[in-house]
Amino acid sequence: MIDKNIYHIRREKLIKALGQGVAILKGAPEQVRSNDTEYPYRQDSDFFYLTGYTDPGAACIINPNDKEHAFTMYVLPQDPKKEVWTGWRLSFDDTVSTYGADQALDIAEFEANALTAMKTAGTVYTNLNHDKDHQYKMLDQLRAVRKEVQRTGGGPEGLESIGSIVHEMRLFKDQHEIALMQKAADISADAHKIAMQTSKPGLHEYHLQAVMESHFVYGGGAGPAYTSIVGTGDNATVLHYIKNRDVIKDGDMVLIDAAAEYEMYAADITRTFPANGKFTEAQRAIYDVVLNAQKAVIEKAGPGVTFQELHDLDLRLLVEGMVDIGLLTGTPDEVIENASYQEYFMHKTGHWLGLDVHDLGNYMLNGKSRVLEPGMVFTIEPGIYVNSKSNAPEKFLGIGIRIEDDILITESGNKNLTESVPKEITEIEALMAAS
Ligand code: GLY
Ligand code: MN
Ligand code: MN
Repeated sequence: MIDKNIYHIRREKLIKALGQGVAILKGAPEQVRSNDTEYPYRQDSDFFYLTGYTDPGAACIINPNDKEHAFTMYVLPQDPKKEVWTGWRLSFDDTVSTYGADQALDIAEFEANALTAMKTAGTVYTNLNHDKDHQYKMLDQLRAVRKEVQRTGGGPEGLESIGSIVHEMRLFKDQHEIALMQKAADISADAHKIAMQTSKPGLHEYHLQAVMESHFVYGGGAGPAYTSIVGTGDNATVLHYIKNRDVIKDGDMVLIDAAAEYEMYAADITRTFPANGKFTEAQRAIYDVVLNAQKAVIEKAGPGVTFQELHDLDLRLLVEGMVDIGLLTGTPDEVIENASYQEYFMHKTGHWLGLDVHDLGNYMLNGKSRVLEPGMVFTIEPGIYVNSKSNAPEKFLGIGIRIEDDILITESGNKNLTESVPKEITEIEALMAAS
């Protein structure tokens, strides 16, 4: 049962920001996977955020200018012959009461009503995402309306992304969202522990992927929040390695970046551990550098600190560590200046996390890095990747290490939502030895 009040409060906020504008939103389209079968359906995050609606075939119009029907849902009509294949649909009346809509209509009426709503709108807000058909349709309609009303001086001024309002709202998680994100984090954390306990040389990367993804579903999640990365040896140095087909060899490090989606919310966790449960000297050396940076950045994260300050600290500590262990030459200042660290560390320290794994929201405000505030959730994920073709000392070749946790900013500092997954070397070795 959805708590329709949560979505009502969000729409009220949206309506304040809309002014004379109208929000005309389409749910995500279904995507063909093969011939006549589709990928599991996943609702558009903005559409879900404002409606709580997770089924395909829907749209909505949020129109503050329409006093009687400020929120109209458009859904697939009931059709017993189709429903026996794809599941029961709510009646229009039940859609109204379940989702707190002012009215629910057949999706077939959406386009014509969108056109009418545009006529009285200032700005038209819509989802500008990957649904190009919808966007072209909206532009066509906007052109048609402007042509029709141009002599009256009225009509919509332009088409704007609903994201310009909603992504800022989504950046600040409420208690309901934080609880769901903690659950996504907990399921994912347990799965990482299971993977560490399962790992042994001779297994394939996909065996670890399988035990983790099985646990995502077993724990009540929808499945992975993003394509799972399980990379052993040199594969761990490829940032988006998703083949997961290789044999895990004795002496390899295994990097796993995988997490569940729970009730639409993502977790995002990376852990790296030795396949056989025992770190070598060289693995330990790099691991300590990454762990030290990761812990220091988490320690610093809190209200009033900027995103850029976190990245600067991360970079500084990674570079100092890499110079220390002989992975880079020169002083830390020189290495940062000439950017030679980019051979081994080539991404940002983290990203917003929420309904999307790379959640939306601005990282900069007025040209400056954004100051962290309570309710924001993001990842902290330093890494060092020494691929076998790089110029590093032999002993470091083929070691890729990333450690990633999910951090909620609180009034007093932060809460690490994923701290239950071991990351200290002693903890990892103990857990793996016990299995
Ligand atoms: N799993 C994607 C990322 O860490 O950004
Ligand atoms: Mn991440
Ligand atoms: Mn990740």
